[in-house]
Amino acid sequence: MKKISIWFILALALVNLALVVNGDESETTIVKKVKGKKVCKRGWECLEWSEYCCNQTISDFFQPYQFENLFSKRNSPVAHAVGFWDYQSFIMASTSFQHLGFCTTGGKVMQMKELAAFLAHVGCKTSCGYGVATGGPLAYGLCYNKEMSPSESYCDDFYKYTYPCAPGAEYYGRGAIPIYWNYNYGVTGEALKEDLLNHPEYLEQNATLAFKAAMWRWSTPIKKSQPSAHDAFVGNWKPTKNDTLSKRVPGFGTTMNILYGDLVCGQGDIDGMNNFVSHYLYYLDLLGVGREEAGPHEFLTCAEQVAFNPSSSSPSASS
Ligand SMILES: *[C@@H]1O[C@H](CO)[C@@H](O)[C@H](O)[C@H]1NC(C)=O
Ligand SMILES: *[C@@H]1O[C@H](CO)[C@@H](O)[C@H](O)[C@H]1NC(C)=O
Ligand SMILES: *[C@@H]1O[C@H](CO)[C@@H](O)[C@H](O)[C@H]1NC(C)=O
Repeated sequence: MKKISIWFILALALVNLALVVNGDESETTIVKKVKGKKVCKRGWECLEWSEYCCNQTISDFFQPYQFENLFSKRNSPVAHAVGFWDYQSFIMASTSFQHLGFCTTGGKVMQMKELAAFLAHVGCKTSCGYGVATGGPLAYGLCYNKEMSPSESYCDDFYKYTYPCAPGAEYYGRGAIPIYWNYNYGVTGEALKEDLLNHPEYLEQNATLAFKAAMWRWSTPIKKSQPSAHDAFVGNWKPTKNDTLSKRVPGFGTTMNILYGDLVCGQGDIDGMNNFVSHYLYYLDLLGVGREEAGPHEFLTCAEQVAFNPSSSSPSASS
């Protein structure tokens, strides 16, 4: 008899706990109307009034265990940034971009697809999974936080008045979607209000900053005439006639085009492109969205697309 009542109380306590958690979740969204338009703030992740903050925030559909699943080998013995990357840094970084629509646009499926797409670029760019068997090559994202054997210091004198290289500083690849060259450090630092031109090393010392730099790149057009990867992915971008003739359509394919141009796109189904696509499909599966949500080949890849930023004519397209 006594035993039963203890269990009963325990069960009641658990029910109460669940209610509190649920209550918290809905209570954290604050809503108001501005000129007939609904805007919100939602918890500590979405702190500025915005229509996007009315939707779920990233931690509502992306839990620490899922981060661990996606990047399961990042702290393995072969990895080169052991202990550096973590879930907390990712979420902290995202709080600067969620109110702008990063993974908060278009409803839950689109939000999770954008998360998978962004992380696919991150995972592919920071993988050390080539030729590794255990766990499969796609399990090695976030294995690096910097270029290991830079062949130069990536200081371009053309920008000596706008983004002069700091004495002794080296601008090799660093970050979650690595940036290279003094001018890219300069532009990114201005946007994030961090002195990356004089302190490029910040990006290999601070995972939140490293994620923020990647999210800024994802959310910002490289040229005014082009969409950001974010807008191209979620469909905010409407292709011009020229885009359509160049086979550029909203989707994952065009995000590769924006970020890497002809290094990856317009060359058919090459390995360099398929590596990004494979990470994207793998993450869609792991997140429970399913790779069938990725859509047909012409949206998923950029195999047939004309490059936005041909590498010969665009010094600012970082590799
Ligand atoms: C928020 O999510 C809904 C679906 O749940 C979607 O229709 C809407 O477009 C989203 N809001 C924004 C601003 O993207
Ligand atoms: C890392 O960068 C974030 C974001 O810019 C900043 O808020 C935080 O204080 C930094 N952490 C350290 C230890 O410098
Ligand atoms: C159309 O696209 C081509 C190739 O991408 C480019 O060279 C050209 O400048 C574009 N024209 C316009 C009007 O944008």
